Amino acid sequence: MSHPYADARLSVPERVEDLLARMTLAEKVGQLLQLDAQGDLEELVHGHLAGSLLHASPERIRRAQELAARTRLGVPLLMADDCIHGHSFWPGATIFPTQLAMACTFDPGLVERGARVTAAEVAATGLHWTFSPVLCIARDPRWGRVDETFGEDPHLIGELGAAMVRGYQGDGGPGTVLATAKHFVGYSQTQGGRDASEADLSRRQLRSWFLPPFQRAVEAGCRTVMLGYQAIDGVPITAHRWLLDEVLKGEWGFTGTLVTDWDNVGRMVWEQRVCADDVEAAVVAVEAGNDIVMTTPQFFDAAQEAVRTGRLAVGRLDAAVRRVLTLKIGLGLFEDARLPDPAGQEVIGSPAHTDVNLETARRGLVLLRNDGTLPLERHTEPLTVAVLGPNGDDPHAQLGDWAGASGQVGWMVPEGHPRDRVVTVLDGLRALAPPAWTVTHARGADIGGLGEAEPATFPDGQPRPPVFHPAAVDDALLAEAVDRAREADVAVVVLGDTVALTGESRSTATLELQGAQAALLEAVVTTGTPVVLVLVQSKPSVLPPAAEQVAALVEAFNPGMQGGRAVAELLLGLVEPSGRLPISFPRHAGQLPVYYNGVRGQHGDRYADLTQEPMFVFGEGLSYTTVEYADLHVSTPVVDVEGTVRARLTLRNTGARPALETVQVYVSDLVTSVTWADKELKAFTQVRLDPGEQRDVEITLPAGSCTIVDAEGRRRVEPGEFALLVGPSSRDADLLRAGFSITGGADRPGR
Ligand code: NOJ
Repeated sequence: MSHPYADARLSVPERVEDLLARMTLAEKVGQLLQLDAQGDLEELVHGHLAGSLLHASPERIRRAQELAARTRLGVPLLMADDCIHGHSFWPGATIFPTQLAMACTFDPGLVERGARVTAAEVAATGLHWTFSPVLCIARDPRWGRVDETFGEDPHLIGELGAAMVRGYQGDGGPGTVLATAKHFVGYSQTQGGRDASEADLSRRQLRSWFLPPFQRAVEAGCRTVMLGYQAIDGVPITAHRWLLDEVLKGEWGFTGTLVTDWDNVGRMVWEQRVCADDVEAAVVAVEAGNDIVMTTPQFFDAAQEAVRTGRLAVGRLDAAVRRVLTLKIGLGLFEDARLPDPAGQEVIGSPAHTDVNLETARRGLVLLRNDGTLPLERHTEPLTVAVLGPNGDDPHAQLGDWAGASGQVGWMVPEGHPRDRVVTVLDGLRALAPPAWTVTHARGADIGGLGEAEPATFPDGQPRPPVFHPAAVDDALLAEAVDRAREADVAVVVLGDTVALTGESRSTATLELQGAQAALLEAVVTTGTPVVLVLVQSKPSVLPPAAEQVAALVEAFNPGMQGGRAVAELLLGLVEPSGRLPISFPRHAGQLPVYYNGVRGQHGDRYADLTQEPMFVFGEGLSYTTVEYADLHVSTPVVDVEGTVRARLTLRNTGARPALETVQVYVSDLVTSVTWADKELKAFTQVRLDPGEQRDVEITLPAGSCTIVDAEGRRRVEPGEFALLVGPSSRDADLLRAGFSITGGADRPGR
């Protein structure tokens, strides 16, 4: 006999109430649990009655739902995974550039298309939910998860994050998945770059920089939010009433689902030690309004005990269960559990998806130096190109973290994604160089890898996680690379990092290229052969002195499966470089932090022993042509706070190649009631220019976006004088400047 909760003709609330009323305490608690599907499925679904699973291998997704269907009430599982730059752990899926590399495109439309591709691939495999996008602000490149972010600027992060949410969630129908805004909030504000350390953030700082991207994602309709691991001012986010109740659910009206990060609830006991035991942690988590508790299996018994002993009101538990059931019934999972669809899986890795991936990879490449050596196509004689360096032909380093063999799941280690799905720089040059050219290769150096920690155990006997061991210079490898460089007309040296230096608990104390890489670059530069340095890496690195002598420098970050092809196209002049840096590059780790929008006020502007200037700034990037910015004119010199700032400028392509120019619009509030950033990105637009072409560009900016957060923590426009700064990067010398003033003034409850 079918019950009302299974009757699709009834309303969602009616069905939820019917189901809730039938549930035992254990079944209710189980619905709040999300467990790792790499464990014993039967035990997870029938023992712990888990309502949600993550990390299910392709073979186990269907089996898990079959088990759920055989539970007393047959509530379908909510299936989730980290499909953060593609369907990470589905062999052969389309793996995009990482978020940091995507951010270099400065193109929300392209990011949205990529997310739609990922959603289609993910949805076809029986998953309902991806833990993406990451909206953390990357201000300390020592942190191991910079690759997962859209960089350092809140406006750019908000625009790209909202685009990704739209791409994943679409209209909510088939081929779409739930998005997750994570990690709410301030997780990236580490101490010393150390992962998940306490975030030293005031409420005013949160409102100024860290909350706005999340608010943007909530406004874009993001259905779920994941809570960061860390505490702020002593309170773990999992228990943070101000952030969860007042800001997220109160001010922003978020009615979606909250999920903790991995064992956040357990960590309050064993790591942060703010709860005496698991029962207390369960009470704290439920009372703070968490819905889904990720991978804290002991929550199952603890929450039941909390209710049985009267420490947790069953009404509080019911509120959370109601939200989870509303999500499941709202998604229609009782009618269609969205099981893996073998026919639908034909889209996985399809040529159409590969095209979007290739376009994203091309647009994500950032040309940072070029003495005219690039593009190589200018050469009339056939060339010999030597591809050197550890990342020239390493598919894993190219894909980066959260892909294939990156370590989060067991079923793709050590092979990772099928080798023939990945085009490395060597593959790309071999495929695309003119037939008369010669492409040679030598690794030349190793980076290093994970090995045993010293000592191998903690004092209590527990094994220590492996640590990174840098590779030593291998004379034979080095000599081979030097020989190839000597024989070549140009050496393409591909350096960077690997997943052993990237990710959770893999922050780095230094930013230098690891292992034998600096020695390789030095040796190759010394041959006198022009060097094109390509960086395949998870985050900005500090470059060795030999990098000053390279002919050209291309930042690729982790450019995804098509990355090597995109690099080859760029080097050969088949595409135009157009990426821009979404993050500053320090010259030395001691300069940190180096983000462009730090607040005003310090004595002097340099260290006694080093400039304070970054190596490369936010927004920086070259093309194969030159674009002149001129005649910035504000047509609204005085504007009311409700009005619009209007300006115009002229762009002219003064070179011989086409350009895709990213026009960046910053605002400086000249005098503020509290210290504030000297300039902030407020808008950007992309303009195509043929050689010699001149175009007028219109800029419109709501005056209401020229806000600061005052001493009371209110976001408001302060009337007075402002400067509009427009140019190709955040560097002062690159920006045209024109004044305007705002009259009126108002509290702005938004960004
Ligand atoms: C921990 C990570 O911090 C988070 O980003 C991820 O979504 C979860 N693990 C699930 O894998």
